[in-house]
Amino acid sequence: MSIRDTEWNLTRLIGERVRGLQEYAPEPLEEVAHRLGLPVGGLIKLDANENPYGPTKHTLDILTGYAYAHRYPDPICRRLRQAIGEYLNVDPGCILVGNGSDELIDLTLRLFRPSPAGGGIGQVIDCPPTFGMYSFYGVTNDLEVIEIPRDQDFRVDVEGIVALCQRDPQPKVLFLASPNNPDGQLLSDAELARLLELPLLVVLDEAYIEFGDAAQNSRVGWVAERDNLIVLRTFSKWGGLAGLRVGYGVFPQTLMTALYRLKSPYNVNGLAQAAAQATLEDLPTAQANIHKIVAERERLRTKLQEISFLRIYPSQANFLLCRVQGMAVETIRQAMEKRGIILRYFRPPLEDCIRITVGTPMQDEAVLMVFRALDKERQDGQ
Ligand SMILES: Cc1ncc(COP(=O)(O)O)c(C=O)c1O
Repeated sequence: MSIRDTEWNLTRLIGERVRGLQEYAPEPLEEVAHRLGLPVGGLIKLDANENPYGPTKHTLDILTGYAYAHRYPDPICRRLRQAIGEYLNVDPGCILVGNGSDELIDLTLRLFRPSPAGGGIGQVIDCPPTFGMYSFYGVTNDLEVIEIPRDQDFRVDVEGIVALCQRDPQPKVLFLASPNNPDGQLLSDAELARLLELPLLVVLDEAYIEFGDAAQNSRVGWVAERDNLIVLRTFSKWGGLAGLRVGYGVFPQTLMTALYRLKSPYNVNGLAQAAAQATLEDLPTAQANIHKIVAERERLRTKLQEISFLRIYPSQANFLLCRVQGMAVETIRQAMEKRGIILRYFRPPLEDCIRITVGTPMQDEAVLMVFRALDKERQDGQ
């Protein structure tokens, strides 16, 4: 008789934390195309804040010529960290590269999650609407996720966070994106400085910072002066490397040993390391693409402002958030999808919002044409 002869229900043995989670599996492009009766090449994908220009030519050449697929990569990304250090003017010893910045959100929480033997931070503050991975990894790491929602204009409720810390001064991890996803607005220096005075480890996610004046807006330089600030960055957006998964964090020096002990040994694959490094070697080309995207964002904003049922939020990122007034979002979705245009739609409380990733001028013209046609129909019907 087997030692487990009685009921062995493997799924019942899964940790309870998984029960409330949703699988993250956006519809693959091929299926979207099939559903819409279009070829994949006929789709205009503006839903995931990707870079329409992709990697630079130099990066593509390096990828094509990559000769080390049979070798394990450098587990601690020495050359890439050196290059990032020069790019940001920070000590490479304070940089850790991850499998996208997503991995670093998880790693940071794993570093601080309470351990049965002692130590840890048990609570995460999330400020929705924002990037969903902060609360996701909070839950998957068994942390209590406390929501302090942003206001109607997506401003952080700094006073609400201060009040929470006064009521309960035990340390917490606070995640803030600047620019924030989905609206694209920056956190001010005064707000960040105030938050850093609280018993908080602040994780500032600057995934989109290159689409504004990064030299002026980034707070990566603050990390060396504080012991409670981490800044996350990524190659996914400005570098056009979303599919290769390369992000990095600038951490207080005091955390580095523990982070390197905890991380998965080969978390960043060799191709991804080479591509990120190539992107930094050919910075002017990558930056020219950023400039094109920023100029196009402003052009798109001006044109969207002419659509009577849209209100556009200010954005320092590669996307624009629009609030829809006097038109059903579902009508817009159907009209866009008929032409193969995929935008980002939301659940409540953002069910009246649409996020548009800035595409090429041609892609954005297709979006504008649909909006203009809907606007005309609306005006004619009034
Ligand atoms: C605010 C924010 N942070 C991080 C990421 C993820 O970046 P990565 O591709 O480096 O994991 C995203 C992606 O959409 C994002 O919006």
